[in-house]
Amino acid sequence: MRPALVLLQSHCLLCVFTGVCVPIVVGSLPPALPWHVSCPIRCVCQIKPWFSPDSVYHEAPTVDCNNLLLTKLPLPIPLNTHTLRLQSNLLSVMDAAVLHGLPNLTDLDLSQNRFSRVRMITQSMPLPALLSLHLEENHLSHLPEASFSSLPALQELFLSHNNLHSIAPGAFSGLDSLLRLHINNNRLTTVDPVWFRALPCLEVLMLGGNPVEALPERGFASLKSLRSLVLGSMGLKGLAEEALKGLDSLESLSFYDNLLTKVPRQALKSVPGLKFLDLNKNRIKLIETGDFKDMLHLKELGLNNMEELVSIEKAALENLPELTKLEITNNPRLSYIHPQAFAKLSRLESLMLSSNSLSALHQHVILSLPSLQEVSLHSNPLRCDCLFHWASRDTSHFHLRKNTQTHTPAARVVRFIQPQATLCSEPPELRGRRVRDVSSGEMSASCLPTIPASSLPSYVGVQEGGKLVLHCRALAEPQPQLYWVTPAGLRLGPSPSQESKRLSYSVLCKNTTSDGFNHLSASSVQAQDETPCQLFKHYQLLPEGTLEIRKITPREAGLYTCVAENALGADTRSVTVGVHNRGKNRKRGMAIRLKKFQAIRADVRLELREVGEHYAIMSWQSLQNLPSTRLSWQAIYSNANTPTYTTRVLAGTQSFNLTHLQAETFYRVCLHSGISESSKHSGQRSRESKKPQCVSFRTKDVPQPQPRLQLNPQLTSTAVTLLLLALILLLAGQVWDTEPGQEAGKTHSTLCVDIKVPKTVIITEKDKEPNQSEMLLKVC
Ligand SMILES: *[C@@H]1O[C@H](CO)[C@@H](O)[C@H](O)[C@H]1NC(C)=O
Ligand SMILES: *[C@@H]1O[C@H](CO)[C@@H](O)[C@H](O)[C@H]1NC(C)=O
Ligand SMILES: *[C@@H]1O[C@H](CO)[C@@H](O)[C@H](O)[C@H]1NC(C)=O
Ligand SMILES: *[C@@H]1O[C@H](CO)[C@@H](O)[C@H](O)[C@H]1NC(C)=O
Repeated sequence: MRPALVLLQSHCLLCVFTGVCVPIVVGSLPPALPWHVSCPIRCVCQIKPWFSPDSVYHEAPTVDCNNLLLTKLPLPIPLNTHTLRLQSNLLSVMDAAVLHGLPNLTDLDLSQNRFSRVRMITQSMPLPALLSLHLEENHLSHLPEASFSSLPALQELFLSHNNLHSIAPGAFSGLDSLLRLHINNNRLTTVDPVWFRALPCLEVLMLGGNPVEALPERGFASLKSLRSLVLGSMGLKGLAEEALKGLDSLESLSFYDNLLTKVPRQALKSVPGLKFLDLNKNRIKLIETGDFKDMLHLKELGLNNMEELVSIEKAALENLPELTKLEITNNPRLSYIHPQAFAKLSRLESLMLSSNSLSALHQHVILSLPSLQEVSLHSNPLRCDCLFHWASRDTSHFHLRKNTQTHTPAARVVRFIQPQATLCSEPPELRGRRVRDVSSGEMSASCLPTIPASSLPSYVGVQEGGKLVLHCRALAEPQPQLYWVTPAGLRLGPSPSQESKRLSYSVLCKNTTSDGFNHLSASSVQAQDETPCQLFKHYQLLPEGTLEIRKITPREAGLYTCVAENALGADTRSVTVGVHNRGKNRKRGMAIRLKKFQAIRADVRLELREVGEHYAIMSWQSLQNLPSTRLSWQAIYSNANTPTYTTRVLAGTQSFNLTHLQAETFYRVCLHSGISESSKHSGQRSRESKKPQCVSFRTKDVPQPQPRLQLNPQLTSTAVTLLLLALILLLAGQVWDTEPGQEAGKTHSTLCVDIKVPKTVIITEKDKEPNQSEMLLKVC
């Protein structure tokens, strides 16, 4: 057998692209019949079934001399030989006269021999009946002008797996009837549009496996009859807008195994008749809005085996009325399919999503596909909580209705492919259960966001001046909001509307870029010499949570944290960004970055913004992204050890409302800036990062019926004593909270309670408290 030229997943695509549909039905063919002729020694002569390139069946007198180590043609070859097989021999020259005497020779297989010059075969040897010539796996390196002019009837020419590095412009002239040309897996570095002018009838062209990095504009413009084009494994990084222009009949197109980083959207507009499209194994990161739109004849689409694919965005596939099968499998980083990724796919029946990193498939996706019959989701880290109600068997009320009004609403349940292997990974209590067996009652109505680990690596390196792109996605119910925190502690993302008003330096930078900024806001600004908007000029936050920074500078290296938050809570994930100096060595760049990183570390200052009887609002300004920051607080009495409470603080949060405090009580509050993940990576543990920032204060008095003395600068002697006592206690207390790396359980004599972080605190500056500042006792 000749090696398979392109590995494709689906049988149908295989058949379309390689044209080997016919052999697939070989089992039902009549067997070979005896052919009584004088056969060349060691060869086998039989009447065998044979299909012409246009699929007409023949009973073909066949001489089979494969695998015989022949160096010369075997003799005698019967006169009426139709098919002559000489595969896997050692032929390098050919006695042309022998073949010349075979008027009915239709199929000649010379593959896996040692021919180095094509003229050896075709010279002075008119073979008027030859339809099919196999020359794969020889040593051909060049095709001169009119190489095949002696084969006027030729319909199939197989030249794959040779060493072809040059083809004369008129090499194929005279092949007016050629339907199929395989020149894949050679050494061609360019594609000459002139080659194809001689091939007006060509229907199938295999060009893959040649190191052609860029296809010319209109390179295939003369191939008006071409139905199938295979451009696999060529190292294509992109496609010129007009690369596919003129391919008016094209139905199937494969870009399997190239280096495309985006869907070649513009080029695909030239081939509106496309039915099968294979983009498997490329470097596409996102399937973006409008990537596949209005392709009215597309039936099957393959987006498999993409190492870098992370997300299918909103309306990525839209108005594909003929699409019946969609395969998006084996993409190890694909963790997100937007609930509205698919629109107007009225015929989609089969949705293949196995072996990705999907935690769930939003029910909106299912609802948007009125013809969906089967879905494959196995080998994904599925979270069988709130997002999977549509999948559970008992959800009989979850009906899918036909979109068209003409049909009566049809209640259907989507079939799972391999339901036994479609298992829950989360939550822990459902781990290992089949998704189909989990009842709707076991799932919650809403759930916490999770940012899948696969979508964000822990380290990303960029060249100085390059573009940094970080994708963060999270699915949850209700749909979470995403924002980013930069190494400088800036929060980038949709601003909680009230919060943006509060701090004097809070800014909103709308449309600072030509392509329209999406709600970029910062809750604090570090550099005095730059206005925030200038600072963000090259930042862009895309709607689904992608942060893009153009022309990145070494100053922007450091820890970036993505936060996904909904009403139930939040999830965060951090990525360390290294900016490599051009020309300089990489290590030094890293070292500078880390040094700088640690130098600004001590800059967090904790302040009391507002205090009430039972609450206190703390705020701090951090010049740095501290994703594992904690806040701890403890009531201070003169004579008792009281519990310490701890809460994690979301990255990018700069204020916090401590609630449930006791009135008329001294409190000590400490901010423990987290150990930055980057210093963890580099193995350095900076001591200074461990020193908490602390503030002490006293909560307000409960209003008394009779006007009690207000605390004023002349503190009563008891109050002074209390304060001093508190101070002593606090200094002693330093011991217990200098180790933020240590978890709560390890601290003795204190009780640490993790409390779910409430919504971001809003501080209003308008009405200043009656002066409380004299009550503050700053310790740190
Ligand atoms: C070639 O094929 C034709 C038609 O099938 C047949 O009539 C003719 O005898 C064959 N020629 C030889 C030399 O066998
Ligand atoms: C934002 O852009 C619009 C048009 O693109 C422009 O009219 C408007 O003035 C811009 N706003 C700011 C604050 O620059
Ligand atoms: C802080 O929490 C207290 C108690 O829940 C509440 O009364 C107060 O309004 C909160 N302050 C702000 C600014 O949210
Ligand atoms: C509060 O105290 C500060 C200094 O302690 C002072 O500058 C400010 O004017 C006072 N504000 C009011 C409202 O008393």
